[in-house]
Amino acid sequence: MTQHQTADITQAVLDRLADSTDPRFKQIITTVVKHAHAAIRELDLKPEEWMAAIQFLTKVGHTCDEKRQEFILLSDTLGVSMLVVQLDQARRSKRAAADTTATVAPTEATVQGPFYWENAPVLPLGSDIGKGMPGEPAYYSGRVTDTHGKPIANCCLDVWSGDGEGVYDMQMGGDAGMRLRARFHTDAEGRYQFWSIKPTYYPVPDDGPVGDMLRAMGRHPNRPGHIHAMVYKDGYVSLTTHLFPSDSPYLDSDAVFGVRDNLILPFQKHAPGKAPDGRVLDKPFHTASYDFALAPA
Ligand code: BEZ
Ligand code: FE
Repeated sequence: MTQHQTADITQAVLDRLADSTDPRFKQIITTVVKHAHAAIRELDLKPEEWMAAIQFLTKVGHTCDEKRQEFILLSDTLGVSMLVVQLDQARRSKRAAADTTATVAPTEATVQGPFYWENAPVLPLGSDIGKGMPGEPAYYSGRVTDTHGKPIANCCLDVWSGDGEGVYDMQMGGDAGMRLRARFHTDAEGRYQFWSIKPTYYPVPDDGPVGDMLRAMGRHPNRPGHIHAMVYKDGYVSLTTHLFPSDSPYLDSDAVFGVRDNLILPFQKHAPGKAPDGRVLDKPFHTASYDFALAPA
């Protein structure tokens, strides 16, 4: 049997891919093997350190169930999810990037996170999805346009957030059902408006191995306040993004690296009284205005 020296074991592993038939799979495995071997050589990794890594990944797997996906959390907190999102958006928005007549940049995408729930109720524009929820009321309004500033009518805006204490419906256990989420459709001028709450910061789940990793790294688990939005219509590149209040803590150190400067906006605070839609509130409220732009598909 051939003895492989440490110096050529990497090539020996790659040689065994000769009969692999899927070229993309082969390319991925080749790169992963090369980088993993290079990292182990660079670190001069000790057996007990490699065993600790295997035990950590085993714990990550054991922490997963139908509700909890610790591997995605690991990917999020190491910035891998956000990197994949950015590469994907750049790839899918190539037409917009090459269009020298475009006047508006497509809105930047960010991570979807684990709390998206399909088929949220379709509600009329102006509805209040934050009624009775912990948190300060906020009126969201704006437009959806293409990259030439042309309004996109009947565009779906699927929004969701935690409540004013940072808790999502999906984290409530039992059959709490959906709350603080809905789908709206823009009017003929591409306009949207709805009421919800001003989102607050909250920690990603940190009672598992990823939490242990964050503590070992000297990091906190918090995400700045944000409301999620998925914006889509046939003929355009679908967008999954967030809006962040500009006064939220942790904008500079989001645990999942999801903040982009142009997704941060002021939430104007108002005394009790008349809101922009004519509604009269007996407590303080916020207004937040944001225009989304979608790239052509
Ligand atoms: C969130 O935004 O809801 C989220 C994103 C990544 C990990 C955990 C939570
Ligand atoms: Fe979130």
